[in-house]
Amino acid sequence: MRYLVANWKMKLTIAESMALARAVREFVERHDTPDLHIALCPSHAALSEVGKILATSGIALGAQDAAHVDRASLTGATSPLHLAELGVKEVIIGHSERRAIFGETDELVHHKAKAVLAHGLTAIICVGERKEERDRGEAETVVRRQARAAVDAGTPWEKLCIAYEPVWAIGTGTPVRREDAVAQADAIRDELGKALGNKDAGARIPVLYGGSVDGDNVRLFTQAPLNGTLVGTASQSKEGMYALLLALRTLPQE
Ligand code: PGA
Repeated sequence: MRYLVANWKMKLTIAESMALARAVREFVERHDTPDLHIALCPSHAALSEVGKILATSGIALGAQDAAHVDRASLTGATSPLHLAELGVKEVIIGHSERRAIFGETDELVHHKAKAVLAHGLTAIICVGERKEERDRGEAETVVRRQARAAVDAGTPWEKLCIAYEPVWAIGTGTPVRREDAVAQADAIRDELGKALGNKDAGARIPVLYGGSVDGDNVRLFTQAPLNGTLVGTASQSKEGMYALLLALRTLPQE
């Protein structure tokens, strides 16, 4: 299974999100997209309307964040329980923007992932080093730390997915080299295997790549051992989304 996860961030209005969801649905109804799992992650405010458009389409509804508990005095937060009620199937957790701007720690990411997985939703946990960490030769140490902290021996890993997103590659037009993404995916899987106490599980967890992916380079990151991509900018327009889907349609089956 290959993944294409669209992260619309806070870039589209509700009406724009609905129009783009309709366009993606139309594409998928007109063209075969073999072995491709597509998820659209609009803002929380747009989830309900986008969910109605995607119903029965085979395209999954995703969210960009969730609270770490179901019910609490947490003003402004969104419960994983509510996301499940809305028909959300996967949730991005620990995106670097949430870590950097909202101060989310490895520990909070761990609890958020657990809360999401407890509802049978897929948790797409983001990890990735910053530019200065890569320059200091610490890129692998950082993703190992983040991957290890995200899970423990009791984590139900069947619905776990990791997105390797180097912070310096996000929104910059400069993706990582494929060989570097592959090396980081190996380190992430190794570390997950240890933290879960299950080497085989670690090896089977899908690892996506995210950071300046577009229609021109998406195929590079959608071939084993990488399992697909988490896309921001290029997924936020019909042209960008169609370019991604067209590139993936012709990718040979593995
Ligand atoms: P980008 O964003 O595709 O615009 O680099 C990716 C992300 O932040 O998930």
